[in-house]
Amino acid sequence: MTDTDRDQLLVAIRSAVAAAPNANTAMKQAVQLLKDAVPHYSWVGIYLVDGEELVLGPFLGKPSPHTRIPLGKGICGAAVTEKATIIVDDVNADPRYLACSIETKSEIVVPIMNGAEVLGEIDIDSDQPAAFGPADRALLEQVAPLLAEALSDS
Ligand code: SME
Repeated sequence: MTDTDRDQLLVAIRSAVAAAPNANTAMKQAVQLLKDAVPHYSWVGIYLVDGEELVLGPFLGKPSPHTRIPLGKGICGAAVTEKATIIVDDVNADPRYLACSIETKSEIVVPIMNGAEVLGEIDIDSDQPAAFGPADRALLEQVAPLLAEALSDS
């Protein structure tokens, strides 16, 4: 995927989120656009913080057993605690990892922040090892604020 492709994807996500009538539709559209556009995104989902748990919202890919994750658990929980993007090149070497699919090799989790508050996160798994680099981080860290706005508006 070229930089131009990524720029166009971001424009498409921005338009879709702006046009969405509610946060759920905005999240679904963003998940769909990301999953369709990027071949190494094998599973794309959004978790929302609900009290002391993350609750799985819209996703595309195989159903995950982890529909609710305590904030202290998993790579997903760590991203909330750290309030920062986490990239794991080899999930099987990371003791925090909660397995979703046997095929998953690497993962990126990007918090959706409203100021200092974590509203949720974008979670993407890849069947390729070390699939996520600076370009993925840059793209997803621009998508997250769009979703934060949609979630804060609703
Ligand atoms: N791997 C995540 C759990 C979610 S599944 O990937 C969909 C984690 O370790 O928190």
